[in-house]
Amino acid sequence: MENNIKPKQDVKALEYINPESIKWVRDHSGSMSRLMAYYKCAIMEVETKLNVLNEEFSLQHDRNPINTIKTRLKSILSITEKLQRGDHTLTTENIQDYLNDVAGIRVICSFTDDVYMIANALLSQDDITLISKKDYIAHPKLNGYRSLHLLVNVPIFLANEKKIMKVEIQLRTIAMDVWASLEHQLRYKKNYKISDEMAQELKKCADLSAELDYRMDRLRRQVID
Ligand code: GTP
Ligand code: MG
Repeated sequence: MENNIKPKQDVKALEYINPESIKWVRDHSGSMSRLMAYYKCAIMEVETKLNVLNEEFSLQHDRNPINTIKTRLKSILSITEKLQRGDHTLTTENIQDYLNDVAGIRVICSFTDDVYMIANALLSQDDITLISKKDYIAHPKLNGYRSLHLLVNVPIFLANEKKIMKVEIQLRTIAMDVWASLEHQLRYKKNYKISDEMAQELKKCADLSAELDYRMDRLRRQVID
């Protein structure tokens, strides 16, 4: 989710892009740049809120609940490709209506309890509106993937208006992030299909990471008690 250009991903997205989309992007470069800037501002708003929560908690409890925050803005090529895959016409309205992950934030927390504490603190702020929540920690995906996903609306304040923007927030522990990052790398390895045995092995690794989180949470509670 780093804020950089991903040439490989863009080349992959290019395969699906027809010349009309490229023309559309060219013809709408002004409104697209503006929209992307709004999403970037929304990321900045949410990132600041998270940093403030981390700061406040570390003052009170002498430790940081947030280990790392990663942000990423979806590339314009990926945006057009995803919109077309969903059979939607390319318009800036459709991008905002149908794409949930143009602005993405990943919050890597120290402990599982921190994930929920940070999520609840963020959602209790009166300018944040929850659109949807997927709790893959309480209900992991079949492959073992765990994380808490929040889709929120956040306002950004411009010189003469207020815009409401969608931001996708993924919260997870360090152990969940290790598993998800490695699984992602394996899954997207070129020309390689993951066999059933490998999928089972990945699931066992996910179970091990869940066990690690469980034990570390138990230790943390002992330290506090
Ligand atoms: P898209 O996949 O973005 O179209 O969205 P969705 O509506 O299916 O959302 P979901 O919340 O399930 O997943 C969105 C994001 O979560 C993905 O883009 C990944 O970043 C992450 N994610 C979901 N499932 C997995 C998984 O099995 N492995 C890994 N590594 N990441 C996952
Ligand atoms: Mg996505």
